[in-house]
Amino acid sequence: MKLARIRALRGVVNVPADKSISHRAIIISSIAEGDSMIRNALISADTLASADIFSCLGVDIIRSDEGLRIMGKGLRGLKKPHKYLDAKNSGTSMRMISGILSAMDFDSVIIGDESLSKRPMKRIIEPLEMMGAHIDSENFHAPLAIRASKTPLKSIDYISQVASAQVKSAVLFAGLYADGCTSFTEPYLSREHSENMLSFYGAKIIRTNTSDDFSANAYDVLRTGAKVGIYPSERLEAREVVVPADISSAAYFLVASQIIKGSKIVIKDVLLNETRTGIIDALLMMGADIKLENIRMQAGEKIGDIVSAYSELSAVKISGELTLRLIDEVPILVIAALFADDTSVIRDASELRLKESDRLGAMASELSKLGCDIEELEDGLVIHPINKVKNGLKSARLDSHNDHRIAMALSVLAAALDEDIWLDNSEVVAVSYPDFYNDLYKYL
Ligand code: S3P
Repeated sequence: MKLARIRALRGVVNVPADKSISHRAIIISSIAEGDSMIRNALISADTLASADIFSCLGVDIIRSDEGLRIMGKGLRGLKKPHKYLDAKNSGTSMRMISGILSAMDFDSVIIGDESLSKRPMKRIIEPLEMMGAHIDSENFHAPLAIRASKTPLKSIDYISQVASAQVKSAVLFAGLYADGCTSFTEPYLSREHSENMLSFYGAKIIRTNTSDDFSANAYDVLRTGAKVGIYPSERLEAREVVVPADISSAAYFLVASQIIKGSKIVIKDVLLNETRTGIIDALLMMGADIKLENIRMQAGEKIGDIVSAYSELSAVKISGELTLRLIDEVPILVIAALFADDTSVIRDASELRLKESDRLGAMASELSKLGCDIEELEDGLVIHPINKVKNGLKSARLDSHNDHRIAMALSVLAAALDEDIWLDNSEVVAVSYPDFYNDLYKYL
């Protein structure tokens, strides 16, 4: 499609519900006892993949204007599926649901699309097999054939090299079915929605830095990073969940409002869990005029409104824990950096090469087509601002690399430029934000 330039963004912006929380609400409600109601659940290709998998496992899920009503089958009530379980493009579905399938007394096979079949699964296969699961794969890639579990899973204390919420969730979900307390330690705290929601549904969770932490060995905890433990559960209780707006989707409007002169918007009811707000911190470091208002708690998660107005941005250097706290927002942060006063650097982002596309390579190659000056590092990007590009930018035909976040980031860039820009495979935005273009082009 041909991308459009837009005018200043003004007024209230509502973005769709959080993808990570919607997945977890679907998954946990399916193994809880009784009817859960998920209000404002995200209905997108990715979350429908999770819902369809649980339908194949015998869970009734009814969609209405109110939200998703999920008639949970209990921890042991899922049925053997009669076909392959299709996670489509969704790594979150495949990795997290494998933790539950590993404990079931029936065989199952979980498959994914071409992109997902290239993504690494060793990171979940390894801990789940340590717990006693049997998962066959070709070279640790999907399809994953998960064999019926004949004995209860074993509890483990797993130390993960990578801070990954998907891996952590797979282990925690399997831990519901284990023979003792299972713990997961990661170098930094990754998004903690599974812990929050499992507690909310009645599972017993213990974490570092709380009153019920692993204080017996506090030094170990500090040295090894964030740690969470889960006890096996008899049952989870059905719940009502209201899903807040997704900060990862809000980020496109946040950056658009920062780079398009005259903009001033309020993005309503956004999830503000600190494991996810790195994009706000990074933009504040760049001098962005952003304020948080109306902050409150909702179903164990912090939410609030983000007020954002156009700013002259300065360059920024991002690394370590901050990179993790904005990992899905790196593509759109690159767009903000193009409008800064000097060269910005993003490091410690090698995980981005393992997402729906190689996001570092994709951003570098697509932006180069427009004449931007971007250097690719093994674990990041060096972004020289547009105002320092000698011959100016040029019109180009870009490709989304079949990656929703690349498509949306490039579309925001085009919205701030006068050049003619086309984007192939733009429809991939449906993975997380089906109405993205309707919402962005309200400002045509
Ligand atoms: C997610 C975790 C992150 C993130 C992904 C969603 C989740 O992936 O990039 O978009 O919902 O748990 P990793 O666990 O691979 O870091």
